[in-house]
Amino acid sequence: MYKFILFIHIISAILSIGPFIVLFPVLNRMIGKSGDVLDSLIEIFQATIRIVKHAGHVLVVSGILLMWQGNWPWLTSWVIMTIVVMFSSIVFLAKAFKPKIRQFYAGTINSTVLIQKLRFSVWQYIFILLIMLWFMVAKPNIW
Ligand code: HEM
Repeated sequence: MYKFILFIHIISAILSIGPFIVLFPVLNRMIGKSGDVLDSLIEIFQATIRIVKHAGHVLVVSGILLMWQGNWPWLTSWVIMTIVVMFSSIVFLAKAFKPKIRQFYAGTINSTVLIQKLRFSVWQYIFILLIMLWFMVAKPNIW
């Protein structure tokens, strides 16, 4: 059972990070586009965010199950560090994508600014996820 949960946990980690890499070519294709073409590229962007969001929820739930099934103490330093990074980035993740797309459709920002902001957010998101991935894989004993 433990191995099965670990498998689910790792699959959800892959699905939490992997789809975001695809967003770079999508962002490149958005440059200079408008109307229906731009709308459909933004839709791909939003669909990707949706997949990653669901995978992130599975990641957390399977992580909690691993702690329980594996009798890992909750004070384990690499687990606490992952949770700290996760909570401190939740505020960022909530504001990273949707509000920017909304600003674009409201006319507050143009497509060039939208693409720049989204690209920066994708890098930030990948960076945060890679920090957590490192804590999980290296399991450093910080204290
Ligand atoms: C609430 C948050 C989380 C908890 C409680 C949690 C818990 C755990 C536990 C207990 C293990 C150890 C399994 C073992 O080695 O037997 C583990 C492994 C793993 N976790 Fe997490 N996790 C969380 C979030 C994450 C996140 C955000 C990622 C990726 C970004 C991630 C990726 C991994 C990976 C790849 C492994 C396998 C590492 C290995 O077997 O060496 N986890 N997780």
